[in-house]
Amino acid sequence: MESSTVFFEEKGEADMVEKKNIDWSSLGFGYIKTDKRFVANYKDGAWDEGVLTDDDTVRITECAGVLQYAQTCFEGLKAYTTEDGRIVTFRPDLNAQRMHDSCLRLEMPPYPVDKWIDAVVETVRANEAWVAPYGSGATLYIRPYMFGSNAVIGVKPADEYQFRILVTPVGPYFKGGAKPITIRVSDFDRAAPHGTGHIKAGLNYAMSLHAIVDAHKAGFDENLYLDPGTRTRIEETGGANVLLVKKDGTLVVPKSSSILPSITRRSLVYIAENILGMKVEEREVLFQEVRDGEFEECGLCGTAAVISPVGKIYDHGKEYAFPSGMEKMGPVLQKLYDTLTGIQMGRLEAPEGWIKVID
Ligand code: PLP
Ligand code: COI
Repeated sequence: MESSTVFFEEKGEADMVEKKNIDWSSLGFGYIKTDKRFVANYKDGAWDEGVLTDDDTVRITECAGVLQYAQTCFEGLKAYTTEDGRIVTFRPDLNAQRMHDSCLRLEMPPYPVDKWIDAVVETVRANEAWVAPYGSGATLYIRPYMFGSNAVIGVKPADEYQFRILVTPVGPYFKGGAKPITIRVSDFDRAAPHGTGHIKAGLNYAMSLHAIVDAHKAGFDENLYLDPGTRTRIEETGGANVLLVKKDGTLVVPKSSSILPSITRRSLVYIAENILGMKVEEREVLFQEVRDGEFEECGLCGTAAVISPVGKIYDHGKEYAFPSGMEKMGPVLQKLYDTLTGIQMGRLEAPEGWIKVID
């Protein structure tokens, strides 16, 4: 791909960054091969130092644990260019910790948290030309992942693993960007009670593939999963947590032990309570409350989704439309969105420890 030269006022000519010549504003959420990726291997009970490589292929045995028994987990975070031209990531320590937790649940050897963050920084730095310019509407998505790499045929954890980090420039997760979407209550479950819904295991996403293809065929953007035990409580969607706003402006976020502890959601709850002075309820949310018209606004939140507004929820022949409508995000979610992205893009002061500068 060709390069174009972008000068940042704050940097001298020697620090000139050659950005890739991409139409950043038209990017969707897809994979584009970038220059460098990080690879570390675990063997004989220890991780090696890891390297950055140009090689985007993976060579493993046909019997690898990941291929036979899906022993793999991953993370997702983003690098942003701030208003003043710095490259930053948002709370990578929480992604590192969550991947640590995912590894323990899947009997995989966690990659040490400090080194995990260093590896993310190194990988982003090596792909600086791929970090979308400020204001372009795009970001650099960072995908750390790990898998069992040696041969396993009896059902047991692998002895050898590979930890990799790839990065790829992305635009909005849902087509149409900030336009409200329609989701449907799924007949399939995403997670089992006491299963793996709370970790970022590849298997959770494999489970959701049929449901998402089916939802798209039927004209819906995403699936809303209810709790697998009773199918009465709101859990989350295939790739994001759920946000709801009551008539009095209170932010309501579903609490459940089988949803992914979204870093975006946890950050929004903090922002709502401590920066915007809003009331927040983190609790079990019955789907009946949606039927009863208790909520003014609804949205999905996550690294990929940021905050994507939901205009309607379809449930077995009935449609529940939120008063915020199908044209734009409601005012409360918009305020949360502006504050979150303002912090991520350096326009607003971040709470202590939220921003990791890559220099
Ligand atoms: N829920 C699921 C199932 C996800 O895949 C994601 C994406 O990571 C999220 C929620 C949002 O989590 P985060 O805000 O940490 O990206
Ligand atoms: C993310 O938001 O990082 C995710 O992993 C969601 C995924 C469905 C793209």
